[in-house]
Amino acid sequence: MKLRRCTTVMFEPREAVAVDLQAMLAGRTELTTTTGWVALAAHLDQPVPVSAAQRELLGSLSAQRWIEALEMDDSRSQWQPLLEAGLLISDGDEHAAHRRRDEGIREGHWWPLAALAHRHGRWSGVNSAAEMRDNHLVTARDLRQQLGPPPPAVQVRSGEYQKLPAVDATAYDQLLERRTTCRNFDAQRSISLEQLAQLLQRTVKAQAVVQVEEDTAFFKKNVPSGGGLHATETYLLVQRVEGLASGLYHYHPLEHALVALPRQCDRPLQDVAETMLSGQDWFANAAAHLVLVPRFARTHWKYRNHAKAYRALLLDIGHISQALYMAATERGLAAFVTAAINDVDTEQVFGLDGITQGPVAVVGVGWRSETRTTTEFDPNHAVWPA
Ligand SMILES: Cc1cc2nc3c(=O)[nH]c(=O)nc-3n(C[C@H](O)[C@H](O)[C@H](O)COP(=O)(O)O)c2cc1C
Repeated sequence: MKLRRCTTVMFEPREAVAVDLQAMLAGRTELTTTTGWVALAAHLDQPVPVSAAQRELLGSLSAQRWIEALEMDDSRSQWQPLLEAGLLISDGDEHAAHRRRDEGIREGHWWPLAALAHRHGRWSGVNSAAEMRDNHLVTARDLRQQLGPPPPAVQVRSGEYQKLPAVDATAYDQLLERRTTCRNFDAQRSISLEQLAQLLQRTVKAQAVVQVEEDTAFFKKNVPSGGGLHATETYLLVQRVEGLASGLYHYHPLEHALVALPRQCDRPLQDVAETMLSGQDWFANAAAHLVLVPRFARTHWKYRNHAKAYRALLLDIGHISQALYMAATERGLAAFVTAAINDVDTEQVFGLDGITQGPVAVVGVGWRSETRTTTEFDPNHAVWPA
């Protein structure tokens, strides 16, 4: 068996505070603080506690050059747990799953810090809505009460500010004003297939193709994209679109077409959506959810091990979501975006590996309900009457 270190790993000293059991037996309540190292790897979902000796051992091994395990027999008790945890990679079949994930990271040309930020920022089974409610952090007033004042809304610089002219509003300004994040969808009313098609056509459809070589194509879209790479795919969870069976789909931006995807479970789609949306029930009943999924290697093909590549991918998704909001608003529909998603659960829903591609945000669209149960931020009463 041959061994090497995994592609991207960093170490963090972590402090853990625990009740001192000795003191507790003596009738005292005391806390003890212990410090230990954890290894954060780009292909592993969880931090792995390591000893100082294991940390040094990993640091002494190459991520490219294999060595025979036999050559390290005297330190087997150190490295065997690292191999089981996936921090060491072997050429053996029994460790193929870790090896494949690690190769996925290496071939993805990630900048190491971005790879770690992405991997360890993913959620699984989180209920952010329940956490918000339990911690009384729902309204703006709650936030102020629990957290104190925020940094000011404007950072005023010294000097005299020169007033700018107020320009007369056009239809575009009125459209912008009506863009308000929807948290009250009409749970009965369907959108038409034509409306869904138009939303996709206006935002993520390829408007032109530039074919550089037979195997190298670039799309022109109505949204900007870092490097012109348009690495973000659109997956759909459709609940109420007339003429389209409810279910899961992938959108083809060149063909302007949807393909149905297999369901992994028979839970009602609204429950699946609520899990994806980390318990945010106020979003779950949108008519259709658009899951925005970057394919990292396409951006990293140009921006290899690049410190700005991941930032550009996230900004791409921001542009797509704003374009979807505006396209929906113009048709009288309502929309939301959220990054508070259970990435791991969403990957399972759509059969994504979470290494070469993974969801970053979900945008939902539908009709706004006649009644408002959850707060929306509409101080100008552009969508809700005063
Ligand atoms: C990146 C991003 C993430 C967001 N995540 C959530 C979210 O998890 N839950 C939610 O209710 N709203 C979310 N929103 C909506 C914001 O709360 C909303 O944009 C903000 O309150 C301003 O309201 P407006 O969009 O109606 O102007 C998100 C918005 C953005 C841009």
